[in-house]
Amino acid sequence: MTNLQIFLDIATEAALAAGAVLQGYLGKVEDAVTEKGRPGDLVTAADKASEAVILEVLRRHFPQHSILAEESGKLGNQDNEYLWVIDPLDGTTNYAHQYPAFCVSIGLLINDVPQVGVIYDPFHNELFRAAAGLGATRNRHPIKVSHTSELNKSLLVTGFAYDRRETSDNNYAEFCHLTHLTQGVRRSGSAALDLAHVACGRVDGYWERGIAPWDIIAGVILLQEAGGKVTAYDGTPLKIESGRILATNGYIHNKLSQALIDAPPLSAWQ
Ligand code: IPD
Ligand code: CA
Ligand code: CA
Repeated sequence: MTNLQIFLDIATEAALAAGAVLQGYLGKVEDAVTEKGRPGDLVTAADKASEAVILEVLRRHFPQHSILAEESGKLGNQDNEYLWVIDPLDGTTNYAHQYPAFCVSIGLLINDVPQVGVIYDPFHNELFRAAAGLGATRNRHPIKVSHTSELNKSLLVTGFAYDRRETSDNNYAEFCHLTHLTQGVRRSGSAALDLAHVACGRVDGYWERGIAPWDIIAGVILLQEAGGKVTAYDGTPLKIESGRILATNGYIHNKLSQALIDAPPLSAWQ
């Protein structure tokens, strides 16, 4: 067995265990959303319990590896070439409302390159896995991106970051423009699931600003292994620290990139 296969299997063990934790807390979380629309303490408890399970599994198998986890921050020796990047609950607001679009996301960077990704949606029991050169799967069956090549035949998904009320660079203008040009733009509330859904052909493209590394590392390798393309908005190589990602089936990539650049200001729609 290759190292990547071992990393993939251990990440799967961690994601399945964490997903069971999330399912256990689901529905027991009342008054879980604060007045600002952000998750409250009870959701944070589910988040932390999920993360603790993932950390236990990864540290037991790979004590030398570095970790970046949403709730715990940087852990271990950060000079290690292996960096696990973890979102123990992606789709927190959905989870708090019991809206079934949330998941666990575990990615592995080796020398800063996404190499392994596992995304687990426990509500629907959908397990997405990929490793560089080993392909992408959904519930152990190979997946591929869609073949849609025209924007007017495409279905897209995007998201709006928590700072959307505090900045005019909030993706509203781009959302209006792409809603006009396509068959629709969905907003799921889970960036990791958005990437998984591009990877398995349910949607043709995804873009978002204001995202963190733990939202996307697993999804990036999943989509690449499913035949898709991931870049910055302008088609140049993805810069994870920029918080902006454009991810598609490859066929609509340039057209979606141009449309994002061309999006008129929000005032054009009023
Ligand atoms: C959020 C989700 C959401 C995206 C936000 C993320 P969280 O992550 O991925 O879809 O729009 O930008 O912060 O807070 O649910 O882990
Ligand atoms: Ca997240
Ligand atoms: Ca999270």
